[in-house]
Amino acid sequence: MLSSLDSFQATAYPEIIQGGMGAGVSNWRLANAVARLGQLGVVSGTALDTILIRRLQDGDTGGHMRRAMAAFPYQGVVKPILDKWFIEGGLPPEETYRLKPLPTVDMLREDEELLIVANFVEVYLAKEGHDGMVGINLLEKIQLPTMPSLFGAMLAGVDVVVMGGGIPLGIPGALDKMAQLQPIEMKLNVVTTDRSLEYTRSFHPGTHVSANQEPLKRPRFFAVIASDVLAKTLVKKASGKVDGFVIEHYNAGGHNAPPRRGDAYTERDICSVEKVAELGLPFWLAGGCASPEALNAAKARGARGVQVGTAFACCEESGILDSIKSEIIMKHRAGTLEVVTDFKASPTGYPFKRVEVEANSGRDACRACDLGYLRHVYAKEDGTLGYRCPAGPRKSYLSKGGTPEEAEGKQCLCNGLLATIGMGQTRRGTKVQPLVTWGEDMSFLQPILGDSKSQYTASEVIEYLQS
Ligand SMILES: Cc1cc2nc3c(=O)[nH]c(=O)nc-3n(C[C@H](O)[C@H](O)[C@H](O)COP(=O)(O)O)c2cc1C
Repeated sequence: MLSSLDSFQATAYPEIIQGGMGAGVSNWRLANAVARLGQLGVVSGTALDTILIRRLQDGDTGGHMRRAMAAFPYQGVVKPILDKWFIEGGLPPEETYRLKPLPTVDMLREDEELLIVANFVEVYLAKEGHDGMVGINLLEKIQLPTMPSLFGAMLAGVDVVVMGGGIPLGIPGALDKMAQLQPIEMKLNVVTTDRSLEYTRSFHPGTHVSANQEPLKRPRFFAVIASDVLAKTLVKKASGKVDGFVIEHYNAGGHNAPPRRGDAYTERDICSVEKVAELGLPFWLAGGCASPEALNAAKARGARGVQVGTAFACCEESGILDSIKSEIIMKHRAGTLEVVTDFKASPTGYPFKRVEVEANSGRDACRACDLGYLRHVYAKEDGTLGYRCPAGPRKSYLSKGGTPEEAEGKQCLCNGLLATIGMGQTRRGTKVQPLVTWGEDMSFLQPILGDSKSQYTASEVIEYLQS
């Protein structure tokens, strides 16, 4: 029997990639539904350690986490996680979730193990019960959890790694080494005034497996890009093979590549599809491509197909709270849905597409920084490393050398995005408000829903795209 990677190589590429959407929006349920139908389902790998321990603290309804954890090949690490985090029946809603330590460069072994297991679980469940292809999406800007996350996903047999949010030059080579269980040393982005210094982070997959562990399958690597120059750079300079590209337009949901100049996009920010095509690698178009016409047009330009996000984010299987999805559908129908490109909100410094919904109308500035995925690593005067987030507590950020300009307008994406999937923290009895990212193009909605329906499934999205 062909493994899913063999079949990936032997057969045509999928036409549709269901885009990775963090945090927890493209969860295992959505990716499974898409992969089952022969397209590429992509789970988001962002913050999966926190998502796993919150699902366990919520009582693991349906037992899916525990079922997947029981399939993890190294059970010695599973029991301590369950003992520490699982709460039978779940926490009462007004209780505060317990937190894991924030990501750091020298991560404790148990924190690496949690990441490995959490990513294994998500990919395992996404692949369960079918032979289709499953990918995982990670952001280059979030560097510290990446290696253990990829390793967990590879232990579950992930077929594709899709990465954007930066220039992931080191990842293809890291995947080669990881497949062979070899130690990996990667460049670490550090804010420093001394440019001569190089910082690295390391990960040794071999220490997490037994001596008789077989080499793992090396997943395909697709980079999300918004410029042909970046595509060329990746092909030339990446540490290993880049297998394809997703060319993303700036109308897409999530983070966008910054405009070339100032705070507005122009024609010059549109990637030359033809120049990417000249590189001879498979590619998909993303951003406002959720229609049969856009799919056909993409193929006519040499693309294998399209990557679609927003249409899947709004479907039944996505992780977003049903109340938020319904409100967005209602607002779109009423012509009052407003998606803005917020150039300041994200601690990554990248533009971020945001939509206002009722649930976040009273949004206060959450500055707790108790998840820390988007903290910047900076070099202190004594040469040691420190961590700071421009959306975190202001005083502490400034005392660590951050500037008021960098902190201005910043929002806590970590807590806000988790609230969007119903896992918001409760602090002193008050729930953190959701922060919702969304794409500009909603033209798929009317053809899929018509006038009477109010919800739809991932399979209806695929059916519509291929109609
Ligand atoms: C709710 C949401 C979250 C997203 N999160 C991510 C992410 O974590 N990583 C990523 O590479 N892209 C992310 N994206 C972008 C999608 O993967 C996809 O490329 C994009 O949505 C395509 O454009 P469309 O929204 O017009 O279909 C996100 C999009 C949405 C709507």
